Amino acid sequence: VAPDRVRNFSIIAHIDHGKSTLADQLLIKTDTVENRDMQACLLACPSCALPWMTTQSHALQLPAVSRSLAACEGCLLVVDASQGVEAQTLANVYLALENDLEIIPVLNKIDLPGADPERVKREIEEVIGLDCSHAIMASAKQGLGIEEILEEVVRRVPPPADNRGKPLRALIFDSYYDSYKGVVVQFRVMDGELRRGDLVKFMNTGCEYDITELGVLSPKAVEVDSLYAGEVGYLAASIKQVADARVGDTVTLKKQPAAEALGGYTEAQPMVFCGLFPTDADQYPELREALLKLQLNDAALKFEPEVSSAMGFGFRCGFLGLLHMEIVQERLEREYDLDLITTAPTVVFKAVTTDGTEHIVDCPSKLPPGNRLDSISEPYVRLEVITPKEYVGSIMELAQQRRGEYVDMQYLTETRTTLVYNLPLAEVVTDFFDALKSRSRGYASMEYALTGYRENDLVLLDIKINGEMVEPLAAIVHRDNAYYVGKALVKRLKELIPRQQFKVPIQAAIGARVVASEAIPALRKDVLAKCYGGDISRKKKLLKKQAAGKKRMKSLGKVDVPQEAFMAVLQIN
Ligand code: GTP
Repeated sequence: VAPDRVRNFSIIAHIDHGKSTLADQLLIKTDTVENRDMQACLLACPSCALPWMTTQSHALQLPAVSRSLAACEGCLLVVDASQGVEAQTLANVYLALENDLEIIPVLNKIDLPGADPERVKREIEEVIGLDCSHAIMASAKQGLGIEEILEEVVRRVPPPADNRGKPLRALIFDSYYDSYKGVVVQFRVMDGELRRGDLVKFMNTGCEYDITELGVLSPKAVEVDSLYAGEVGYLAASIKQVADARVGDTVTLKKQPAAEALGGYTEAQPMVFCGLFPTDADQYPELREALLKLQLNDAALKFEPEVSSAMGFGFRCGFLGLLHMEIVQERLEREYDLDLITTAPTVVFKAVTTDGTEHIVDCPSKLPPGNRLDSISEPYVRLEVITPKEYVGSIMELAQQRRGEYVDMQYLTETRTTLVYNLPLAEVVTDFFDALKSRSRGYASMEYALTGYRENDLVLLDIKINGEMVEPLAAIVHRDNAYYVGKALVKRLKELIPRQQFKVPIQAAIGARVVASEAIPALRKDVLAKCYGGDISRKKKLLKKQAAGKKRMKSLGKVDVPQEAFMAVLQIN
């Protein structure tokens, strides 16, 4: 396709504001239009930012979003006309502005009785400073405004620059694993030309491949012989795992390589770590197999074997955030039928010992001993919350409780406010999102981005159960909160750990100093004591019930500890 007939754009929208419905409508419309311009814009649409915008509130996907936006010349800013601009939308709009994209505002869901497009238009103008006089009124559900959107795209989004004569540079913005083709890589050709059979080199990893398949997604895969600068397409080249075809990498030709890679390549850095241990030690090899399989399609998932005296053999796993962690955990349990004990997620601390060496601490028990410790630093984020003004007080209180440092507050409109705080990542990755939602009746939205490390007065809180140190229950906490967290944690553990045949002491300690202790009283009667005599069926039933209750238990020494206990620290605030 000639470059002047191509339009590459993506859709930016908050969750549920209607991007999937709108994308479908655009595809249906372009499919039935004979116009060449319309077909050209369809090429780009399904492969653009869509899949990256659907996840919640987790800023760590921004590098991927930014690559998707870098592959476009324009974007649709879709806002629900009955709601308004949300924090995540705002962050993505700023990325679009940084990438110099033409932004077309679309007010969706105008069919809803509560829709107030004029108010939302004003909000977009005030908050983002975007001229909304040409904003399009649409109802993706009823198919209203679809043609206008396409016409506006053709009119306002510039065609890609004609860079066909240059050495090949194609920007990877997404990739997924296919069991037949290997990794399927989606890219935008920025310069030059790419043909099936070409020997290509990925400039950041240095890997070389023969292209076995080249095509466009429209939205079904259609093979083509070549793709030129400005076009968006996919390739397959028997690539073994997604980690070898990272978002942001540049594809060039082996025989005529570009001098410089395109910018923006960053390795996915796991931010949250936890231990995964099979409840049944025999499942360890299966767990490793399952993790390897998931990793084929998930470049951000990291894992390495971990042995703990308390938990046995398992893996220390790294994730982009809590949502990523939950998805992986859920897939391991559902798709691979594994029974796992997950230890509480922790961020990556940095510790400096008295000899000046820096240690990366992705697990509290890896913290060097207190007498050798010089300092501990933790990751910080800049958090932006958008909320109706009546919840501002309660949200500020929440941020302060979580060691937040106030940065800024602004009225976006008469009714909505944006709040900015600097917060330790550790305080955000636990239940902050849930707490925010509950304090704002679901109306507040948030977005955060990592800003760096800061030294704080942090200490290791050890937990002992029945006199034995339980490493996976240890936590790194601020000294000011250590006493409170220790007290609350042992209390919670006392509730969660079932009574045993003997008394079980639980203690929280900082170094040698015990800061809190409780004891679980011994069980008086065992389960069977109630079934006097021979009622076999009742006995069986009780044993079965007990076995089911035991399911997610790990035996630590003589004490059975349920899964919930390993997460108890998250519920304390
Ligand atoms: P995620 O994929 O979760 O990020 O959502 P999305 O932004 O892709 O939104 P989606 O298209 O899934 O729409 C969310 C809900 O809004 C669905 O129930 C749609 O049917 C509904 N919806 C989308 N567009 C319209 C519209 O124009 N009017 C009305 N009334 N409902 C709409």
